Amino acid sequence: MRIVLHDTAEAARAFAVARIAATLAAKPDAVLGLATGGTMEPVYEGLIAAHRDGLSFARATTFNLDEYVGLAGDHPQSYRTYMRHHLFDHVDIAAARTHIPRGDIDPAEAAAAFEAALAASGPVDLQLLGLGHNGHIGFNEPSSSLASRTREKTLTRSTREANARFFGAGETPPHSAVTMGIGTILESRAILVLAVGAAKAGAVRGMVEGPVTARCPASALQMHPDVTVALDAGAAAEL
Ligand code: GLP
Repeated sequence: MRIVLHDTAEAARAFAVARIAATLAAKPDAVLGLATGGTMEPVYEGLIAAHRDGLSFARATTFNLDEYVGLAGDHPQSYRTYMRHHLFDHVDIAAARTHIPRGDIDPAEAAAAFEAALAASGPVDLQLLGLGHNGHIGFNEPSSSLASRTREKTLTRSTREANARFFGAGETPPHSAVTMGIGTILESRAILVLAVGAAKAGAVRGMVEGPVTARCPASALQMHPDVTVALDAGAAAEL
């Protein structure tokens, strides 16, 4: 693992933007693995700015980590809507080249279709990852098999509470999601983890210093040969 420490969250995010943009500039038909969450919103702002400066997504293909079970793609809180709002509607990528597990069909079918699309277009050249407070990657909650494939995963109460802020009053996050598996994620050629803020410090320690355990799914990244971890001072505080 290559750990890149930045003083500020802005600098860590700028590093992530630069890495993704460089990947696409070097390989215009790159396969990008994308993530959601608050951490990534400024990253996508940076990529939209890079697009305005000439970076094209027209030949890229994207695979998103996960989607809530029960939400159709056009639901306001679906990750499909998140991606359209924060990136896809602002760059030159065709919807047909963007892959997100479907939340509105049988989860096993959605997972199989996603794995089939990934097998046809992959592997992912650069997978972007955020980190859950409990060490989850995608929605691979603690106890996920380190060899898991894309599948339905029940969300923990703490994850549903952490993500409740994106839902309206009276709405609660779904109880499960279809998520790329840890084994699936580890097949990416390169992985870029971005974590900022002191609330992530414990998860970052588990990811970087181990042990490799299903109790901290991100610790599985230690087994991958090309992982870069971009952190701000808060997220690095317990290393
Ligand atoms: C969700 C996503 C994860 C993401 C995490 C962190 O749980 N499924 O992929 O890493 O949120 O979110 P945030 O960046 O908002 O802390």
